[in-house]
Amino acid sequence: MIIIGFESSCDETGVAVVCTERGLLSHALHSQVAMHREYGGVVPELASRDHIRRVVPLTREALSRAGLDMADVDAVAYTAGPGLAGALLVGASFANAFAWGRGVPAIPIHHLEGHLLSPLLAEPAPAFPFVALLVSGGHTQLMRVDGVGRYELLGETLDDAAGEAFDKSAKLMGLGYPGGPELSRLAERGDPGAYALPRPMLHSGDLDFSFSGLKTAVLTRMKTLSGTDGAPPDPGAVADLAAATEAAIVDVLAAKSLAALRQTGLRTLVVAGGVGANRPLRERLRQAMPALHGEVFFPPLHLCTDNGAMIAWAAALRVRAGLVESETGEASFAVRPRWDLRDVCVA
Ligand code: KG4
Ligand code: ZN
Repeated sequence: MIIIGFESSCDETGVAVVCTERGLLSHALHSQVAMHREYGGVVPELASRDHIRRVVPLTREALSRAGLDMADVDAVAYTAGPGLAGALLVGASFANAFAWGRGVPAIPIHHLEGHLLSPLLAEPAPAFPFVALLVSGGHTQLMRVDGVGRYELLGETLDDAAGEAFDKSAKLMGLGYPGGPELSRLAERGDPGAYALPRPMLHSGDLDFSFSGLKTAVLTRMKTLSGTDGAPPDPGAVADLAAATEAAIVDVLAAKSLAALRQTGLRTLVVAGGVGANRPLRERLRQAMPALHGEVFFPPLHLCTDNGAMIAWAAALRVRAGLVESETGEASFAVRPRWDLRDVCVA
C-alpha cells in the first residue's frame, strides 16, 4: 500500500511517499529557517503562507522521486496536530482535498507519534518495547512504547522543553535562529567546565524535567559577561558558556533517560525529535549503553527534525497494526493545535 504523508505543523513543509511493505520511497522537504531567521523565531502567518507556496511543488517532487503519480496513492496521511493552527490547516486541507479527489482515505497523524516512530525508519530498526526520549522544540517527554498506539508517559518537562532551553539560551547569547544547532556549533570551541550551571531536577528521583532555571542562570551569566559599559562579551567566554549550557542540558537528558531504562527494566532507548540531532547527546548515550547492556537508536540525522517521512511512516505502521478505519470521503476534517498523545493510544 502506497501512502503519501504531509507535515506542516511548524516551519518545515515535508512530503514523503512510503510503501507499507517496503518502507520509505522518497521524501521532499523545505525548511523555512532562512525566512524566519530575521525575526528571531517562527512567524505563524508567514509559516502558513509559505506552506501554501511549497506544498504542490514538494508533492510533485516526492511523487516523481518515488517514480509514482497521484493515481498510485492508496492513502494520504497528514499532521493534524499539535502545532500552529494556520500551518496545520494548510497540510490538512491539501491532504484531505488530495484524498477526496482520489477517493482514498485521509489519515490524521499526531506529530509526536511521527517523531516517536521515526527511529523505526532506521536500519536496523529498534524492536518494541522501548523507552523513547522525545526532545523537540515544544516537548520533552520520556515514554514507554510497547507498540504502535501503546504509549505510556513516564515523565515530562514541567516548564520549558529541551529544544526551547537550547533556543532561548542561544538567543541570550546573541546567536541566530534556530538556536540549538548554532549553540552546539559554538560549544565545540568552548570549555564546558568554565561555568557551573544548574542541572535542574537531576536528583528529583522522578523522570520529570525542568529547564527554566537553566535559562535564568544563562541570562545572569550573560549580564556579567557583558559588563556595565555595554561592551560585547568576549567571544571565548560566550563559547565557554555555550559549552556549559549544552553540557547541563545533555547531563539531565542523559541521566533521566538512563533512569527510565533502569526503572522500566527495558534495554532499548530510542531518541526522537530535533534535539536528537545533538552530537554530544548522541555520544553520551552511546557511551552509557554497554554498562546497562542496552542499545540506543536515533533516527537518521535528516529525519530528526520535522519531515513528511515520519508522518507517512506513522500512518503506515498504524495501517499495519489495524488501527486505521478504511472509510473514505469524509466531508469534514479538523486540526488540533493542542493534542495530547494519549488521545491516539489504543484503549
Ligand atoms: O522536532 P523539531 O524539528 O521541531 C519541533 O517539533 O519542535 O525540533 C526543533 C528543535 C529546536 O529547538 C532546535 O533548536 C533543536 O530541535 N535542535 C537542536 C539541534 N538540532 C535541532 N538542539 C540541539 N542540538 C542540535 N544539533
Ligand atoms: Zn517536531
